[in-house]
Amino acid sequence: MASSPLLLILSAIVMQVTLNLAQQPGYRFHFCINTSYTAISTFPVNLNMTLSNLYVNATHSNGFYNTSTGQNPDKAYGLFHCRPYTSPELCRSCIKVASELITSLCPQQKEAITWYDECMLRFSNRSIFSDLEEIPKAYLWNVNDIKNSGGFNETMTGLMNSLVAQAVSSRKLFAAGVENDTIFSSIYGLVQCTPDISTRDCRTCLTRSLSDIPKCCNGKRGGRVLKPSCIIRYETFPFYNTTALLPPPPAPTLPPPPPGTSFAPMPPTPAASANYTGKPISFSSVR
Ligand SMILES: *[C@@H]1O[C@H](CO)[C@@H](O)[C@H](O)[C@H]1NC(C)=O
Ligand SMILES: *[C@@H]1O[C@H](CO)[C@@H](O)[C@H](O)[C@H]1NC(C)=O
Ligand SMILES: *[C@@H]1O[C@H](CO)[C@@H](O)[C@H](O)[C@H]1NC(C)=O
Ligand SMILES: *[C@@H]1O[C@H](CO)[C@@H](O)[C@H](O)[C@H]1NC(C)=O
Ligand SMILES: *[C@@H]1O[C@H](CO)[C@@H](O)[C@H](O)[C@H]1NC(C)=O
Ligand SMILES: *[C@@H]1O[C@H](CO)[C@@H](O)[C@H](O)[C@H]1NC(C)=O
Ligand SMILES: *[C@@H]1O[C@H](CO)[C@@H](O)[C@H](O)[C@H]1NC(C)=O
Ligand SMILES: *[C@@H]1O[C@H](CO)[C@@H](O)[C@H](O)[C@H]1NC(C)=O
Ligand SMILES: *[C@@H]1O[C@H](CO)[C@@H](O)[C@H](O)[C@H]1NC(C)=O
Repeated sequence: MASSPLLLILSAIVMQVTLNLAQQPGYRFHFCINTSYTAISTFPVNLNMTLSNLYVNATHSNGFYNTSTGQNPDKAYGLFHCRPYTSPELCRSCIKVASELITSLCPQQKEAITWYDECMLRFSNRSIFSDLEEIPKAYLWNVNDIKNSGGFNETMTGLMNSLVAQAVSSRKLFAAGVENDTIFSSIYGLVQCTPDISTRDCRTCLTRSLSDIPKCCNGKRGGRVLKPSCIIRYETFPFYNTTALLPPPPAPTLPPPPPGTSFAPMPPTPAASANYTGKPISFSSVR
């Protein structure tokens, strides 16, 4: 394990992220889905073309793109989705590193998914457009506890519920926002669905993700639920580019220094682990 090339690749990524958080896409999690192909398959050739087309088309994609290459049974479908505050350049570079990572970590696989802070990328030998998909999923949580609960739970839940309502009434199926808190001055939240699913499916995906928060992240200062069709996240520091999103709210005082934060990925959930393999990565971000 210690000598595996995988670990070296990941260590290199972690180092890059640590050195230059602002410009390097931040890897979070991936799953290789248990469907392998034989050596004579043309799937890898199609996959290569699909991933290249995603990359080539990324700059005029408005943050989401899907494509496919080849014919059944070796047809390769792929899609990516970037956060709306991610610049076209960063979105593109996220797709590039995600493609490289996922093809090296999941060789011989017909289906895989990876999440970065800035983007999500997945491929499969089946059509993956426009269907609500909630597995495989990953939970990530901030290892720091809320020491004195002081209404944090209620404030966070209220914020996230209002973001879900905003997201399902927006064209992008995205919302991000901030709420005042008595202990931490602010709680920041973000919810996003892929734009290929219906408003109704988006609401389902986000609502169920919110109901996972007590399971994954109870008493924690930050948490995320990552699914193929939607993601949610909350933190006590501004983890998204607030200036890129909206007329920025007046900031009379500087935000407090971000707390030391690190993320401990949870192993794949039992429901998902039957058919999916995941790679929990110990990850310490500089925040
Ligand atoms: C496609 O294959 C070529 C040649 O092996 C490689 O250089 C390139 O990085 C691949 N592209 C993707 C997106 O995997
Ligand atoms: C974009 O993707 C399509 C297939 O989805 C592909 O035909 C095309 O070559 C790609 N590149 C550009 C610049 O459109
Ligand atoms: C995604 O794929 C579907 C099915 O092929 C297609 O109808 C749709 O136009 C594609 N969307 C984008 C954004 O490429
Ligand atoms: C995808 O590949 C798996 C494994 O080879 C196979 O069992 C499955 O039927 C394929 N799905 C489609 C839609 O071709
Ligand atoms: C947060 O607190 C500030 C200053 O106390 C206030 O101006 C602002 O309206 C509050 N925001 C919300 C969403 O309650
Ligand atoms: C937060 O709320 C959830 C669900 O309402 C509950 O299960 C959990 O115990 C609460 N956590 C804290 C720290 O109060
Ligand atoms: C945040 O967004 C603004 C406006 O788009 C941009 O000028 C700035 O470079 C972004 N900051 C980061 C850290 O990405
Ligand atoms: C795993 O695959 C088996 C056989 O295809 C299926 O019966 C089962 O429902 C799947 N489980 C999950 C969690 O997808
Ligand atoms: C997943 O892969 C393992 C090891 O290759 C195999 O034993 C198992 O049967 C596979 N499970 C499914 C659901 O394909």
